[in-house]
Amino acid sequence: MTEHRVLIVDDSAMMRRAMRIFLEPLKLDVYEAVDGQMGLDMAFENNFDLIVTDVNMPNMDGVELCRRLKGEPSTRGIPVVMVSSFDSDSDIEKGFQVGAAAYISKKEVQTQALETISKILSQATLHSRQTILVVDDSKTIRKIVEEGLAQAGFKVATATNGKEALNIIKHVKPDLILSDIDMPEMNGFEFCSEVNSNPDLAAIPFVVMSSNSDRAHMKRMLQYGAEAYITKPFNTDQLVILVEKLLSDQFLLLLKEKERLDSEQSLMLASITSLVSALEARDSYTRGHSESVATIVGGMAGLMGANQEEINRIIIGGQLHDIGKIGVRDSVLLKPGALTDDEFSQIKVHPAVGAKILESIPSLTDIVSIVQCHHERMDGKGYPNGLKSKQIPLNARMTAVADTYNALTSDRPYRNGMPQEKALQIVNDAKGTQLCPDCVEIFFKWISSNKK
Ligand SMILES: [Fe+2]
Repeated sequence: MTEHRVLIVDDSAMMRRAMRIFLEPLKLDVYEAVDGQMGLDMAFENNFDLIVTDVNMPNMDGVELCRRLKGEPSTRGIPVVMVSSFDSDSDIEKGFQVGAAAYISKKEVQTQALETISKILSQATLHSRQTILVVDDSKTIRKIVEEGLAQAGFKVATATNGKEALNIIKHVKPDLILSDIDMPEMNGFEFCSEVNSNPDLAAIPFVVMSSNSDRAHMKRMLQYGAEAYITKPFNTDQLVILVEKLLSDQFLLLLKEKERLDSEQSLMLASITSLVSALEARDSYTRGHSESVATIVGGMAGLMGANQEEINRIIIGGQLHDIGKIGVRDSVLLKPGALTDDEFSQIKVHPAVGAKILESIPSLTDIVSIVQCHHERMDGKGYPNGLKSKQIPLNARMTAVADTYNALTSDRPYRNGMPQEKALQIVNDAKGTQLCPDCVEIFFKWISSNKK
């Protein structure tokens, strides 16, 4: 995580030092200013993530500093936290009126600063990644809403009607849409139903802003798929709160959906792993082979700079690469001697059978190519499709190297596993004909990193 840059504005050196100490656990990059004017100048020159300011200061007080920051497009999105010893309702009100994100009383700063500031920083980080699309034919409304949302740290895109908005969505997918109803070219009803009939966009919360508080209108919009309705005139604080609420609901929904998919996937992987175990139980000579291949390709992917998600996927590919052997008869699969041409052609169907088994599982589509292509050869003499060189997917070329090496070193019904040195020599000799030279190189790196 990158360090947050925070500016502390206070005329008291003691208070600035105390604030640094309170915020230490957040590991911030802290800057200091001694009054509002200095704070303002520094804010224009630096990209701060948050400003904590005292209220009562010479040159420029905290309220004026906040007002000026919120009035400038370049500093509008920086959350401002006010700290003051005056905490009557009217002081607090004044702070919020000029756009402060929070107000902490000096009496409570020791207990509240850390929690309040860390909450505001994480909210601001979230907001800065979210785009709100504002659609209204009134320039004034667009401006007011845009400013209010930008002040809360959101990215904002604007359009004057539904048609223009749909064009914007082609390039930037918003996290939430705020739309008027009565607009030229394409009105809110048509726009909302267009958004909701597109499966890629239907999940985006759609909020209607309209001066028409007529119940029939509201009902009709909700029927078209709108999520909420806000009646003009509204104040921007109300709007921001509604937007934040809908986005956090949306976030929770996505989180739940992800959890559901994750658990579905692990259940499915558990059943496939038991299929692999069943296969390996039938054929004791290849027992543990899939697991060893998975370990090797996982290690190779790590050395190639793959991220954890990519490594996990290739490991699954390694575990499942021979799953199609489940369709090969015992008399062939377990035959202790050399295979006849006919028997070998029965073995050769296993990549296609494996691919067929996995094809129907949507979350494993990227694994199918590993299973399907792990017996293809660089020179095109492999099976099932005789693919050549880069026509073979990279993950399958990597798996082929691990598979070849592990098969050579494992005991088979018709021979004992060969010594590692000899197997490495064969893998090296197969570069360019059977195996991908780049993958063999990475494999040798993995072997030497595992010797240490
Ligand atoms: Fe295989």
